[in-house]
Amino acid sequence: MKYKILTLFPDMIEQGLSSSIIGKAREKNLINIETINIRDFAFNKHKQVDDYPYGGGAGMVMQPEPIYEACKSIMEDEQNKPRVIYLTPQGKTFNQEMAMELSQEEELVFLCGHYEGVDERVIDMVVTDEVSIGDYVLTGGELAVMVMIDAISRLIPNVLSNDTSAETETFDDNLLEYPQYTRPAVFMDKKVPDVLLSGHHKNIENWRREQSLVRTYNKRPDLLDKANLSDKDKKFLETLINKQ
Ligand code: ADE
Repeated sequence: MKYKILTLFPDMIEQGLSSSIIGKAREKNLINIETINIRDFAFNKHKQVDDYPYGGGAGMVMQPEPIYEACKSIMEDEQNKPRVIYLTPQGKTFNQEMAMELSQEEELVFLCGHYEGVDERVIDMVVTDEVSIGDYVLTGGELAVMVMIDAISRLIPNVLSNDTSAETETFDDNLLEYPQYTRPAVFMDKKVPDVLLSGHHKNIENWRREQSLVRTYNKRPDLLDKANLSDKDKKFLETLINKQ
C-alpha cells in the first residue's frame, strides 16, 4: 500500500507515523508513506497558500492552485488514478468497514485541509471521496489522516505480527470483542473465569461468543441490529433481556 499525503504539516505526519507497528511496517516496506508539502507548490514569493474568503467572513481559505499542482505532481500514471480522499467533518464517517474497503487499494492519496477550508473548485476537480473521523471539528486533516492510516494499515497482511490478531476483534460482524485475561490467574482476589483455564476449546469458544453478545448488548446495543446472529445467539440474547 502506498499512501501519499498532501499537507502543510508533513513533520506532524512523519512524527505520528514513525513508531510502533506502523513504523515497523514502513521499515519492512509493507506500507509506504510519502508526504507532499503543499507549500512547495505556492506560486508567489512569500510561499503563501491561503487568502481571504470571497464574500467576507472569518478566517482564511486554502487557494486552489498549490493544491492542484501538488496533486498533479503525484499522479504519475495517467491510467491508474488513485482515490483522492479529502479529510473534512462534512465527509462520510470513517468506520471499520470503510477501513477494510480502503485496505484493498494499492494506493491512496489524502488531502489535508486547514484554516477555514479549501477553495471548493479544487475539491470538485481532484477529490473522489470526502471522509470525516467523527462529529467534531479538528484544526486540520492531519490527525484524521493518521487515524485512518493506522486503522487501514493494520488490516494489510503481515503488518500485525500474529496474522490472526486482526481476525477476531471488535466490530467484526458488528459485535464487540470478548474480554481478555493473562497471568496471574488471581490478581488482588480477582480470578480469571474458570472456563478459560479449563483447556476445553468448545466451551471457551461458546463463552467468548456469549461475552461478545453481553458486551455489545450492554455497551453498544445499536450494533446488534446489523450483527449476523445465529438462532443460538438470539436465544441467548432473549435470556439476557428477560433477566433484566
Ligand atoms: N478536519 C477537521 N475536522 C475533521 C474531522 N472530524 N474529520 C476529518 N477531517 C477533519
